[in-house]
Amino acid sequence: MRAAIAIAETNPRLRVAVVSKVYPMRSHTVSAEGGAAGVIAADDSLDEHAYDTISGGDWLCDQDAVDEFVKEAPQELLRLEHWGCPWSRTPEGRIAVRAFGGMQKKRTWFAADKTGFHMLHTLFQTSLKYTSVVRYDEWFVTKLLVDDGRVQGVVAIELMSGKIQPILAKAVILCTGGCGRVFPFTTNASIKTGDGMALAYAAGAPLKDMEFIQYHPTGLPFTGILITEAARAEGGWLLNKDGYRYLQDYNLGTPEPEPVLRSMELGPRDRLSQAFVKEVEKGRAIDGPYGAVVHLDLRHLGRQVIDAKIPFVRELCQKYQNIDPVKELIPVRPVIHYVMGGVHTDIDGATPLAGLYAAGEVACVSINGANRLGSNSLPELLVFGARAGRAAAEYASTQTDPNSSLLAQAEDERRRLERDFLHKTDGAERLATIRTEMQETMEQGAGIYRSGEGLTRAADRLRELQERFRNVAMQDSSRTFNTELTAVLELSFMLDVAESIVHCALRREESRGAHQRTDFTGRDDERFLAHSLNYRNSDGSSRVEYLPVTITRWLPGERVYGR
Ligand code: FUM
Repeated sequence: MRAAIAIAETNPRLRVAVVSKVYPMRSHTVSAEGGAAGVIAADDSLDEHAYDTISGGDWLCDQDAVDEFVKEAPQELLRLEHWGCPWSRTPEGRIAVRAFGGMQKKRTWFAADKTGFHMLHTLFQTSLKYTSVVRYDEWFVTKLLVDDGRVQGVVAIELMSGKIQPILAKAVILCTGGCGRVFPFTTNASIKTGDGMALAYAAGAPLKDMEFIQYHPTGLPFTGILITEAARAEGGWLLNKDGYRYLQDYNLGTPEPEPVLRSMELGPRDRLSQAFVKEVEKGRAIDGPYGAVVHLDLRHLGRQVIDAKIPFVRELCQKYQNIDPVKELIPVRPVIHYVMGGVHTDIDGATPLAGLYAAGEVACVSINGANRLGSNSLPELLVFGARAGRAAAEYASTQTDPNSSLLAQAEDERRRLERDFLHKTDGAERLATIRTEMQETMEQGAGIYRSGEGLTRAADRLRELQERFRNVAMQDSSRTFNTELTAVLELSFMLDVAESIVHCALRREESRGAHQRTDFTGRDDERFLAHSLNYRNSDGSSRVEYLPVTITRWLPGERVYGR
């Protein structure tokens, strides 16, 4: 939405097609809770936001990108305010900011604990005033059209009619979000199946830093529903089975009555999730019906604070866990939340493939490095959505119309979809079985802690699953809202993305941020102060290359939290 608005503003003569497999208000941004970081308080500075982001990312962030990001984030958040976003305010009427994990200052803007919902509404409504923006709601993209080394459109299925057709374009911007669904337990909606990553990879663009997968420390067991970090920012405690604030044992500071920034429960997500695993190993977690959990304690905050600052947390706990956090402990455990990696782009969202841009979680700019700080991703999609929109508009303004030979390519894609899926009668493998096995493989081999042995096993298993996928059974050849067809296409995307995660993780023989190897326990800047780039070879195999990290002002150092 942000990219579409930027295109419309940059060149009103361009026509913009917003193609989405769901109605835009159902995009996963809608579920973002805690907030969006941007320097606004008088005691804060852009350099501090940049430093927190870079040290939080274990020095894998590109520092030029981070500098632009922290500079433009407050501007974008203010722009959203002018477009109608109802940011929460202080009693004096100023923008209210809250603490967030790994940040040394309060700089997270919020709209209660429904920030993403309000941001998405604001963008959606603003986009409606541009007549050049045309929406293709519930169209599923299956392929990028590439000719003459340039991306010149997509092939998509109109889900309501089943019609398969090309949408030609002078430039394409991927804004398709992440790929949490390659894992079994995630905060991510079922639509987050890595489509944009897989489309770009198949077209020849590299995926960057895919091994860095973020676990959010506080998900509800079974559903994986997020209990926002805002609950800890407001003063929530993490307790083990003895009622002990165990984070004090993991170099994250000491317990204080009031929340201390970058300390204890406000430490970075990678460290908190790793501490959970250690507590389980020590036998200090609580056994629950869906595995081990720890407790998030909000009782001392009182009903008034909970209802005013984090009402959605209370609602979610009541509806999905049948508990009231005003008087009961919330069972939580780490849950897959975000992928730091994505399609390799430059600072303007451009990929190495001419005409292809990407922004948001699908992309890796990279400002998140090896571990994203909570509340950096909402401003990221604004800043880099706008930058990608502007850059794509300028590029498209210089291009000739897409080549008509693309129609033949689109026709080949239509035939492939009909032959391999819609008219396929002889498959023997169940799609749901392959999907479950893929998810289990990822959890076992590429979870919070990984090893060479486990990753090799996962890579072998994924290869087998790719083979078995060729023999997948299809029972539904109908055209109207064929959800079996979309599920099978999503599975094919997820298998490619899962392989990319595992291959990059196997080759990175060090521990950094969210990538923790039990067989290579230290950070190795000598060999791996570098982004991994995963390319698809023409024979379908893949290769990983490395690209140096851009370091401008902050030399790699130790990550210190707590006081
Ligand atoms: O905890 C949260 O509200 C999540 C925020 C984020 O991932 O940025």
